[in-house]
Amino acid sequence: DWTPENFVSNSIKEIKAKVGPANVICALSGGVDSTVAAVLVKQAIGEQLICIHIDTGLMRKNESKEISELFNSKLNLNHIHIDASELFLQKLKNVSDPELKRKIIGNTFIEVFEKEAKKFENVKFLVQGTLYPDVIESVSVKGASATIKTHHNVGGLPEKMNLSLIEPFRELFKDEVRNVGRALNIPEEFIERHPFPGPGLAVRILGPVDKDKLDILREADDIFIKAIKQHNLYKKIWQAFAVLLPVQSVGVMGDSRTYENVLALRAVTSVDGMTADWFPFEPDFLAEVSNNIINKVRGINRVVYDISSKPPATIEWE
Ligand code: XMP
Repeated sequence: DWTPENFVSNSIKEIKAKVGPANVICALSGGVDSTVAAVLVKQAIGEQLICIHIDTGLMRKNESKEISELFNSKLNLNHIHIDASELFLQKLKNVSDPELKRKIIGNTFIEVFEKEAKKFENVKFLVQGTLYPDVIESVSVKGASATIKTHHNVGGLPEKMNLSLIEPFRELFKDEVRNVGRALNIPEEFIERHPFPGPGLAVRILGPVDKDKLDILREADDIFIKAIKQHNLYKKIWQAFAVLLPVQSVGVMGDSRTYENVLALRAVTSVDGMTADWFPFEPDFLAEVSNNIINKVRGINRVVYDISSKPPATIEWE
């Protein structure tokens, strides 16, 4: 029978046998999948696992710092923390095309990660939190004519560094990985975290990305997510986030006219991210969030709510 506990004990045996005396590296993004994978591999091989967290500067408000503390204090995942936010911003300057953003972020990530990983000897493996839906979607990228988004940050790395992959969750869905995480005693508050794309807020700022826009989006997103948690809705939602649109509209503030950006809010329910429905918030909730954002975040004077399902829309806007 498949149980999370059996899965953990079998995986630990398999990973030990596969790795032998080699060292293994892992990019800790703070996502549930890669973190659960790292905790599992850590149990199998202990100090042979080297974890690296790269702050891309494209994460949510305070997120990089908070997860870094969690890794150290609760998950026994000592790791190297690298702040590469300046480099990412510089490389993304004036870039609008969503796929080009992803490519640049992926390549920059590899560049920074490789430089760090090369400092260690006898590294033969890379851990990835790849799930079954990722496997399916990347097969269809190669096979079908439709271009689906390129999903993984460290995609080109294994060939480049001559590494074999350890992907313990290739046959699992997200809810199964969450149960594996529970079996590994990872705190519930972490297990329930919503998925967050590798390219982060860069694909939630339509058009070119810069520090000012990132800060505006971080503030608005933080108000939205905090309200969702306060109203006990976080667990009912698959993903929720804000999107900064490259559209300005007219507003009034006191006696004067404003001409500022539009912010879209998105929240969806889903089981695996392959299909999704928009979440039916109460009007009062939307009113509260909208008022808070417009009153507190300078640069936004209009908030809209996205009521599209996937398909035909996607979850992200880019
Ligand atoms: P879409 O927008 O394609 O998203 O409906 C499906 C799921 O994938 C996430 N996503 C990404 N994750 N790199 C990632 O690691 C990416 O480039 C990327 N694009 C989308 C999205 O957040 C959702 O969970």
